[in-house]
Amino acid sequence: MEAIIVNNLSKHFGLVNHGIKNRKREKNQQETTIKAVDDITFEVEEGEIFGFLGPNGAGKTTTIRMMTGVLKPTTGDIKIFGVDAWQNQIAVKQVMGNVPEMANVYVSFSGWQNLMFVGEIYGVSKKERIKKAEDLLKKFDLYEKRNLKAKKYSKGMNQRLLLCMALMSNPEILFLDEPTSGLDVQSAKIIKQLIREYNTQGMTIFLTTHDMEVANELCDRIAIINHGKIISLDTPINIRKITQDYQAIDLYFTDGVKPQEIKNLQSIREVQEIQEGLHIIVENIHDSICEITDYVKSHNIKIKHLSTHQPKLEEAFLKIIERGIKNE
Ligand SMILES: Nc1ncnc2c1ncn2[C@@H]1O[C@H](COP(=O)(O)OP(=O)(O)OP(=O)(O)O)[C@@H](O)[C@H]1O
Ligand SMILES: [Mg+2]
Repeated sequence: MEAIIVNNLSKHFGLVNHGIKNRKREKNQQETTIKAVDDITFEVEEGEIFGFLGPNGAGKTTTIRMMTGVLKPTTGDIKIFGVDAWQNQIAVKQVMGNVPEMANVYVSFSGWQNLMFVGEIYGVSKKERIKKAEDLLKKFDLYEKRNLKAKKYSKGMNQRLLLCMALMSNPEILFLDEPTSGLDVQSAKIIKQLIREYNTQGMTIFLTTHDMEVANELCDRIAIINHGKIISLDTPINIRKITQDYQAIDLYFTDGVKPQEIKNLQSIREVQEIQEGLHIIVENIHDSICEITDYVKSHNIKIKHLSTHQPKLEEAFLKIIERGIKNE
């Protein structure tokens, strides 16, 4: 079953009117409207981790805000487990957990009080609330700090507490807007591990991220969004394939020599100087290694270290965006 079905979804924002008369505004309607989300259609399967990846201002938060019933779509509709997200907000909110971008916990409450409060709103029984809060705080490594006021929490603790709050109601689907953005390694690691753990137990997860590694590590499928449009939707492996002809080799030679003539070899596309070595973009790792070995043998140069790189998701992302811009 599909957990989310999004059909022809758009959100247009009007720009601020600086005293321009209405008639004139109508005339300039096209220029005064931003298409933050521009006619997107996609589905998320139950049990999937689905990622929305895109640059600043691409429309990720606007999409998630429409999905979580905060913003009314200009056109199109969203169904969460078959239920219309705007028409039946209460029903939909009962099955979802939500961690918005730049959200705040109740700062004058302790971590514990925040969880009790949210549990009460969701009608979780007192016994259940206490058990659930203890479990979550332990899992998210906040139990020791449960009685500390949330205003004294670090950013990473704040984000972990928000996740605990979103999970208090045992949601079937979790929406996370930039769950690890700006966090230290330790907090990000805990969050990633737990996203995976909850997903293994069957929870569907929709997340937005800037972080290619997060998308790569966590997501079953990724939609790349730019200027309000989905420009690619696929598995991380397939998205990486787009840059298959952008494999790379890092080469270091003894005595720090950097033979620039390597760039004249047939199978080599580009050579960049890096500290004490060369970063070489190639089309085919095997062919290039054969050619390089022949070259060093005949020139009496010794290789100190060689490592190969598969194309990174980040490179695929930039390439897809570039291609999208060219096609616009
Ligand atoms: N309430 C609003 N009024 C007018 N314009 C808005 C509003 N909210 C968002 N926008 C505009 O819509 C576009 C998409 O914004 P959105 O916040 O969805 O992007 P994003 O992909 O989440 O970016 P980021 O990575 O920076 O979080 C931007 O051009 C933004 O300025
Ligand atoms: Mg955003």
